[in-house]
Formats: sequence, C-alpha cells, structure tokens
Amino acid sequence: MEWKTKITELLQIKYPIVQGGLAYLAYADLAAAVSKAGGLGQITAMSLKDGEELRNEIKRVRQMTSKPFGVNFAIGQHDRPYEHMVEVAIEEKVPVISVTGGNPKGVLDMVKDHPIKKLVLVAAQRQAEKAEELGADAVMVVGQEGGGHLGRGDIGTLVLTPKVVDHVSIPVIASGGIVDGRGMMAALALGAEGIEMGTRFIATKECIDAHPEYKRAILDADEHATVVIKRSIGAPARAIKNDWTDQILEIEAKQEGYESLKNHISGEANKRYIHNGNEMAGFGWAGQGSARINDVPTVEELFHTMMQEAENIRKKWD
Ligand SMILES: Cc1cc2nc3c(=O)[nH]c(=O)nc-3n(C[C@H](O)[C@H](O)[C@H](O)COP(=O)(O)O)c2cc1C
Repeated sequence: MEWKTKITELLQIKYPIVQGGLAYLAYADLAAAVSKAGGLGQITAMSLKDGEELRNEIKRVRQMTSKPFGVNFAIGQHDRPYEHMVEVAIEEKVPVISVTGGNPKGVLDMVKDHPIKKLVLVAAQRQAEKAEELGADAVMVVGQEGGGHLGRGDIGTLVLTPKVVDHVSIPVIASGGIVDGRGMMAALALGAEGIEMGTRFIATKECIDAHPEYKRAILDADEHATVVIKRSIGAPARAIKNDWTDQILEIEAKQEGYESLKNHISGEANKRYIHNGNEMAGFGWAGQGSARINDVPTVEELFHTMMQEAENIRKKWD
C-alpha cells in the first residue's frame, strides 16, 4: 500500500512515522533502523558529549543506510550550549533537524539558509503558531499521554492534534500515546499528516541501549504504570512509576525547588535505570501507551504490523 502524505513528501520517507528524540537511547543504531525501515530515525544530539561524537553518530547512520534521518536538539533541559552541535549538523548536511524544550528560534535561525527540514516539537497551539512564524516546516504536537517531557497544560493528543491542525498551515505530526496502526490512523483522521512515537521504539530490538529490565517494565505496564514527575519545577515529564519516582514525588510534595530534586532527576539517575537496569536508583521515561505494548519486534516487523492494521482499517472504512 502506498503512503503519501505531506510528511512523507516533506521528509522523503516511505511511511509517515517519525522516531522521537530519545535521550540516551537514540543513537545511530536505532536511528538507522527506523530510517532503513521507511520512517524517519533521529539521533538525539544532547545525549552526546560533544560535536565530534555527533559527527561520528551521523557517519555511522550513513554507513548503515542512505535513507533520510534527523538530529534532535532538546535545548531547554540541559544546561549547556548547543550551537556547536547544530554547526556539526549543518556541516554534515543532515536532511532533517528537530528542536524541543525551549525557544527554537536560535536553532531555526542557524539552519535557515541550509537545505535542512526543520521540525519543532510543541505541546500547545500557541507554541505551534510561534514555530510556524519562526520558519518550521512542520510541527510535532505532543499530548499528555506521551513519554518524557510534556506540556504544562495536560492536554491529550486527541484534543491537541486537531486544535493545532486548525490553526497552522504547515503539516502536523501527532505524538503522545501512539503505539500501533490504530493510533496512526486515528491521528491521520484528526488531520495529522504523520505520527511521532517515542515509547514504542524503546521496545524494539534495535534500541540496544535500553536495558532488558526497562523494556520488561514497558511490556508489563498497565495504564496506571506511568507517573508525571518534575511538575513542581514547571517541567512535567512522564516516567515508569517505581520506588525512585515515588521518592521524587515525596520530595516534590515538600516544594523545595530544583536543588532538592536535582540528584534524583539527573541524567545520571536516568541512565542508572535505562542503561543498567537499577530500578532502586533511577528512572526511565515512558508514556501511557506502554499499556498497549506487548512485544519487542524489530523496527521493520513493527512497521509491517502497523501497516497491516492500518490497511485493515482502511478496508473497513471503504
Ligand atoms: C525515553 C524518552 C526520552 C525522550 N527524550 C527526548 C529528547 O531527548 N528529545 C525530544 O525531543 N523528545 C524526547 N522524548 C519525547 C519523544 O520524542 C516523544 O515526543 C514522545 O515519546 C511521544 O510520546 P510516546 O512516548 O507516547 O510515543 C523522549 C521520550 C522518551 C519516552
């Protein structure tokens, strides 16, 4: 079956599926697997030490596939400069970049004279309009079901997606809680031109940096198995609920601010769980869609199943 949407056209991909930036998980292996299978894979730049590491990951993707891929810049959550990383993406002529976590203007201005497609991840209509004004080629809209950082407004994907579709003229990619062909077709029915998935890609064979315990927690999850942390510091984000996130919520209840929380929510605490499986000493981001993930396929198998589901829905609708 042919999949042609404004997003497949814009990004030159076979299926309208983008792999979200995944901190400390989305390196070349996953990005290349997603792109090779017909979606848009992404390398998460801010998980890397420096520009040379990014250059190396970009080269590794190109050794594995000639298909388009992206580099994700989560600029707000890391207290470090990103400009040198964007320079590398420009020098290496990456086909696509995505920006999240802060005002995208700096990154968009840097790449605007280059043939790079620009995606901006937003969680509110106002942010989507701003991104369009600043020159984004498409927006990814993440609803509150999603894994990782969310909007402060707690708006679900089902409401946010059509709201944004109706207020911008650039294509919209729906994100948050989508894990299968049913979710993809629902997003397209809402007016999205594509989908972004994060959590679903953690439970794939090619997500080699995710510890088996983390993958197992996603497979075992029900719809109550995730929790929003960091709300008290204005940066709500959804993680798998465990002892460590219980401790985080206890600290947050005391309202003592970032300093009292920083060791618990650090990148190191994140890696202790997602890389080492140490659930007593760390946390891992995941969305509510975990409740509907029951296997660990290859990305190619995942897309195959999703497209079959989507095809069955199309037949039903005809
Ligand atoms: C483990 C994990 C790490 C994430 N890290 C990033 C990141 O570094 N940059 C980014 O733009 N989004 C990040 N996100 C958000 C995803 O790109 C995506 O928007 C989100 O996962 C969509 O919701 P879903 O998990 O329900 O598919 C992360 C999400 C998860 C689950």
